Amino acid sequence: MKEYILALESSCDETACSIIKLDGTLLSNIVSSQIDTHTLYGGVMPEIASRLHIENINFVIKESLDKANIQLDEIAAIAITSGPGLIGALHVGLQAAKTLALTLNIPLIPVHHLVGHIYANSYVKENKYPCLAIVVSGGHTELVYMKKEFDFEIVGSTTDDAIGEAYDKVARILGLGYPGGPKIDKASKEGKDIYKLPYPHANGKYNVSYSGLKTYVNNFVHNTKAKGEDININDMACSFQHRAIEMIVDKAMDVIEDYDVKQVVVAGGVAANSYLRELISKRMEKYNDIELVLPPLWCCGDNAAMIAKAGLSLYKRNYFASLDLSAKPSWSLLDYKVNE
Ligand code: KG4
Ligand code: ZN
Repeated sequence: MKEYILALESSCDETACSIIKLDGTLLSNIVSSQIDTHTLYGGVMPEIASRLHIENINFVIKESLDKANIQLDEIAAIAITSGPGLIGALHVGLQAAKTLALTLNIPLIPVHHLVGHIYANSYVKENKYPCLAIVVSGGHTELVYMKKEFDFEIVGSTTDDAIGEAYDKVARILGLGYPGGPKIDKASKEGKDIYKLPYPHANGKYNVSYSGLKTYVNNFVHNTKAKGEDININDMACSFQHRAIEMIVDKAMDVIEDYDVKQVVVAGGVAANSYLRELISKRMEKYNDIELVLPPLWCCGDNAAMIAKAGLSLYKRNYFASLDLSAKPSWSLLDYKVNE
């Protein structure tokens, strides 16, 4: 009996493979992180990411099958992140997925990376529509309104840097290292929100802008040091974290006020942020009729379990790709036409 989906994810600096049963039971979730290597360079080096994916992907697949205790001939379909992400990195996972689909003669399911992040929430609660997804990652910051499953409207987004990108850059300015999100989150807990940072406004009612905030911190740190004064790193981390999170949560609340929403989900690497989880939970308390779902911490960063979950839903809709499927590095959710 073929009753499992094997999912692969290699869009950035994580090589991941997961096995899910067709009834939704997650059997394995193996993630090989390249963070230690990229930390040496202060950020993700795309060429190195591709090479490490090539070195690791078969081990990750083997480990995932072993952990799930199943054989390749029991796999019913292969789910693969085909975009957006780093082109070379995507190609490695894609080629592995296509080879498996070809040799096993089973369907290939193209999964949009951000849809995977959104589906991480379905490990906690079933999706309910209309749904607002607050998508916050290293490459994306989007308020995505879904009237029904796989129906995407981007009602708000960043007009410049993604929130995770701003975290990573500010962490570098503060000398906290890479990846910046978790480092700032940790330092923030030791600090106080004492620096009066600006609240940059973006054009468009539900849009945000992070580049001005990052530049302000950069100039402030530079000027303070030039005067021979010290910056309290923990206080600056806390002040930045509060402002950055407040900005996106404020916009999400505006959408909730203006749109018909039954469920709010948070998606992407920044969903692990402690202050984001605290603030959105607090702000949502007054809405008795709207369910807030936060993804489990193990499913916030890039992984294949989220791709498997989305892949399972797509499998049930027979949403398959042919073997000439190619990587889409800047794939917008608006071009992910599952319902057509
Ligand atoms: O979703 P993800 O793993 O990769 C992309 O698809 O981009 O997100 C990575 C981003 C990085 O910018 C990282 O610094 C940020 O998520 N991040 C966090 C936290 N953990 C990871 N940002 C804020 N607080 C965190 N705890
Ligand atoms: Zn991601």
